[in-house]
Amino acid sequence: MAHTYGPIMILWLGTQPTVIVSTPQAAMEILNTNDRICSGRCIRSSFRLKHHIKYSLVWSDCNDYWKLLRKIARNEIFSPKMLQAQSHVREQKVGELVEYLRSKEGQVVKLTQFVFGTLLNILGNVVCSRDFFVYSDDNDDGNKDVIQNLIRDMLILGTEPNIADFYPIFDELDLQGLKRKCDERFLRVMKLWKGTVNERREKRNDDTKDMLDVLLANDFNDAQINALFLETFGPGPETSSATIEWVMSELIKNPKEIAKVRKELDEVLGASTMKESHLPQLPYLQACIKEAMRLHPATPLLLPHRAIEACEVMGYTIPKDCQILDIGTGCACPSTEDSKNGGCSTLPLVPAMALKS
Ligand code: HEM
Repeated sequence: MAHTYGPIMILWLGTQPTVIVSTPQAAMEILNTNDRICSGRCIRSSFRLKHHIKYSLVWSDCNDYWKLLRKIARNEIFSPKMLQAQSHVREQKVGELVEYLRSKEGQVVKLTQFVFGTLLNILGNVVCSRDFFVYSDDNDDGNKDVIQNLIRDMLILGTEPNIADFYPIFDELDLQGLKRKCDERFLRVMKLWKGTVNERREKRNDDTKDMLDVLLANDFNDAQINALFLETFGPGPETSSATIEWVMSELIKNPKEIAKVRKELDEVLGASTMKESHLPQLPYLQACIKEAMRLHPATPLLLPHRAIEACEVMGYTIPKDCQILDIGTGCACPSTEDSKNGGCSTLPLVPAMALKS
């Protein structure tokens, strides 16, 4: 596309101008050089829920509230000390997944569902020290009230094309009912942690063991807590489980690569169980994960950005409030001339390339 239309082009989607960035170099200009001006968020109509949007981290522009949330996240929730303190929980939750899969040996298992559940439990323990997913044979797609299905539903509804995104004049009317359905799921999902939040609020002490303690210590109200919980459970398990599924699928298709990964695991682990501390000694496994992420990025267009002011990038004018979609980062493949010039890589899994980079 970049060969024909240049690295940056404008498309009119309904009444909305949308800038398409289609080479890695143009993506660098937008996301790095002009990051401050191009860091606004373009919020999809279906996600503009009144209970949530005011306190959102994901959909917030770079304002004071966003800076406060980032500071709390960096210094208190995802600080090296907190991450280290919770490593045993992550190891325990992965152990539970392995045990469940072992009990299913010889049977067909929908792996992604259980990986998603494991990630929900890992994040559930970061957020409020409890599990949200139960391993069971009838943990199927049909149960509409379990958190994984409510969250999946919200993501599907929120990303479905909404006429109001192309013609904002229809926003209030919610013609497809997408916003109403998303809101209804959000209200149901909030009920799943309401009891935990209320109980902790009543029995507060000075111990800080999870994200809920940190938010209560910073006097966050229920609406703020709900928004941040949702934004941990929403994007986290979906992106991570999709990535893990792709790593497994690429390795299964590449017997030579899976043999190298097995050899590395045998050498480093021997008969012992894997711990997070083993990860630095497993460069080939890490290279396979990086390669799967390059070939199958979980968010190929990133989140839509918005220019908060008009600006000039590589000689092109980006109008104020224009949506910016980045397909250039997803095409990045540092080793091919083709991708440098804007062509998408269709190479197979080449972990050796990730090892060198
Ligand atoms: C393979 C895993 C993941 C991928 C590919 C991914 C991808 C992304 C992308 C592309 C963005 C938008 C960046 C931007 O354009 O500004 C983003 C933002 C975000 N992600 Fe993830 N993510 C992953 C895992 C997670 C996890 C595990 C969590 C939760 C613990 C999470 C929570 C968030 C939040 C809260 C934001 C908004 C940050 C902000 O605006 O300051 N993500 N992610």
